[in-house]
Amino acid sequence: MSSNKDRKLRSQQWYGKLDRDGFIHRSWMKSQGFPDHAFDGRPVIGICNTWSEITPCNSHLRDIAEFVKRGVWEAGGVPLEFPAMSLGETQMRPTAMLFRNLLSMEVEESIRANPLDGVVLLGGCDKTTPGQVMGAASVNLPTAVISSGPMLNGKYRGRDIGSGTDVWKFSEQVRAGTMSLPEFLNAESCMSRSVGTCMTMGTASTMASLMEAMGLALPLNGTLPAVDSRRRVLAHLTGRRLVEMVHEDLTISKVLTREAFENAIKVNAAIGGSTNAVVHLLAMAGRLGVDLTLEDFDRLGREIPLLVNLMPSGKYLMEDFHYNGGVPVVLKRLSDQLHLDAPSISGGAIGEALDEVECFDDDVIRPMDNPVRPAAGIAVLKGNLCPNGAIIKPSAASEPLLKHRGKAVVFETIEDFKARVDAPDLDVDENSILVLKGCGPKGYPGMPEVGNMPLPRKLLEKGITDMVRLSDARMSGTAFGTVVLHISPEANEGGPLALVRNGDWIELDVEARQLHLDIPPDELIKRQTEWEAPETPHARGYYRLYIDHVLQADQGADLDFLVGGSGHVVTRESH
Ligand code: FES
Ligand code: MG
Repeated sequence: MSSNKDRKLRSQQWYGKLDRDGFIHRSWMKSQGFPDHAFDGRPVIGICNTWSEITPCNSHLRDIAEFVKRGVWEAGGVPLEFPAMSLGETQMRPTAMLFRNLLSMEVEESIRANPLDGVVLLGGCDKTTPGQVMGAASVNLPTAVISSGPMLNGKYRGRDIGSGTDVWKFSEQVRAGTMSLPEFLNAESCMSRSVGTCMTMGTASTMASLMEAMGLALPLNGTLPAVDSRRRVLAHLTGRRLVEMVHEDLTISKVLTREAFENAIKVNAAIGGSTNAVVHLLAMAGRLGVDLTLEDFDRLGREIPLLVNLMPSGKYLMEDFHYNGGVPVVLKRLSDQLHLDAPSISGGAIGEALDEVECFDDDVIRPMDNPVRPAAGIAVLKGNLCPNGAIIKPSAASEPLLKHRGKAVVFETIEDFKARVDAPDLDVDENSILVLKGCGPKGYPGMPEVGNMPLPRKLLEKGITDMVRLSDARMSGTAFGTVVLHISPEANEGGPLALVRNGDWIELDVEARQLHLDIPPDELIKRQTEWEAPETPHARGYYRLYIDHVLQADQGADLDFLVGGSGHVVTRESH
C-alpha cells in the first residue's frame, strides 16, 4: 500500500488556515485542551459513536472509543469522538428500521461538514452498522468499522440459550402451555448476561461478520465478545490503522467493491446469516454505485453450504464461533469461492493471512464436506404474488414445507392479525398459509420484523411448530420458520399481495424459486382495478418524508434521493 505523508489532508482546509476562519476552527477546539500541534496537518480521525443507554447492545461503545483514541494518538493522529443517532432494535417503535436511513443521513452530513480525514464507525445493534456504513459511503473517506461484539452466551437451567431465537421458542411454549410464566420471566435475566449484541447469528452478528469478510473491519471483529479485552485491542489497532489509511488514501469505495459484496453474499450463506443482510447490502451498494441486485443473492449464494452451526439455523452461539476460529475459518474454507485479493483495511488482501488460521472444533464450524446443510443461500422467489421478488431463508425453514400448496388465511394489518390469530373459530389448519399485509416499508411504516408471525394458538396446542407464512415484512435475524419475506411490491404499493383473499390457493416451491397465487389472471386484473390505496395517517415529519421516498425491499429500502454519494468537498465557510 503506497503511503504519502506529505499530502495536504482535508482537515487542513479548516485547521491549516492562518486567517480569521482558521482562528475560529482552532481556537474553539483548544477549549478542550488540544495543543497547537494537534492542528499541524496530522490526520484527524472521527469516531462516530452510536453509544446509547437505550441501545443496550451499544452501551459500552464509549469505553471502546477510548481504545480507538489510544491507537490514533499512537500513530500520530488526532481522534475526535462524536455521537450519531442510536437505533436500539429492542426498544424503538414502530421499528428501528424506519430510522436506518435517518441515521445514515446524520452520519453522512456529520462526516462531510466536519474537519475529518478518516472515520471509525462504532456500532453493532442491527441497524446501526448499515446506517453508519451507508452514510460514510456517500462521503467516501477512509473508513473502518468496529462492532459492539456479541454478548456472552445465555445460560438457563444448565444450558445455553440464544438471544431472540429462544425468545420466539419460549413464547410459543407459554402459549402452548408447556412453559410456565415464572420460568419464562426468569429466562429474561439469564439470556442477556453482558453488554453486546445478540449472540445468535442474528442481524448484528451477521453484519459484524460481513464487515470483517468485506475487509471493512480487522480480523475477528465479527465474533470477539463485547466484553473480551481483545476487543479493546482490536479498537486500538483499528485506530492505528485509520491514521495509516489516511496516508494511503484507502477510502471506503476502494474496500467495498463489487468483489467485496460478492464475498459478503457467499459468507452470509455459509454463516447462516440474517435475511436482513439483503436489504442492508443492497442499500450499501446503492450508495457506492456498485451494481448489486436481488438476483445476485440467489445466484451467488445458492450452492454455498451452511458451515457455521449457530442458532437460529444450528446449535451453538457466538462465543463458540469465536473461540473456535471465527470468520477467518469461514474465509479459509470458502477460499475457492471467494475473491481473496479483495482489499482489507488491514492493508493487505482479505485472503492474505488465512494460511495460519485454524479451527478448533469442526462441529461449530463445519468443513466443506460435512456442512450443516448443503445449499444454504437465501432463495429469491418470483411469481405473480411477488413480481419484483421475495426471499426465504431455507436453512431456517422446515424442509417439508419448502414445497407446499395451501389456502390463504389473510390478515389485512398487524392489528387484524393480533386481534384474530388466537380466535378459536379462526378457519385455519396446519396446511393453511398465513398471509400478512401492510408491513412493508411504506405500510407499517419501516418494514418491521413481524414476518415470523406467531402461530394460531389452536395449532400450537396440537403440537404444530411451523407453517408457511407470507408477508411484505422482514423478520429478525434470530428467527426461524418457513417464512417468505420482503414481498415486493408491498401491499400498500398495490402489489399483488394486497389482492390475496381468504381461501385463495397459494403455491410455494422454493426449489423452483416460485411463489404463485393460483387464481385466474382476469380475476387478478379485476381485483387490481378495484384496489384502493390505503390512507396513511402520517401527514408530516420524518414519517412523511420516509413514506414519500422509500424504495421497495428489492432495492434495499433506502430513500430514493440518498442513493449514490456526494463526496467530501464543502467549499463554503461558516462565517
Ligand atoms: Fe441489538 Fe440484537 S437487539 S443486536
Ligand atoms: Mg433485529
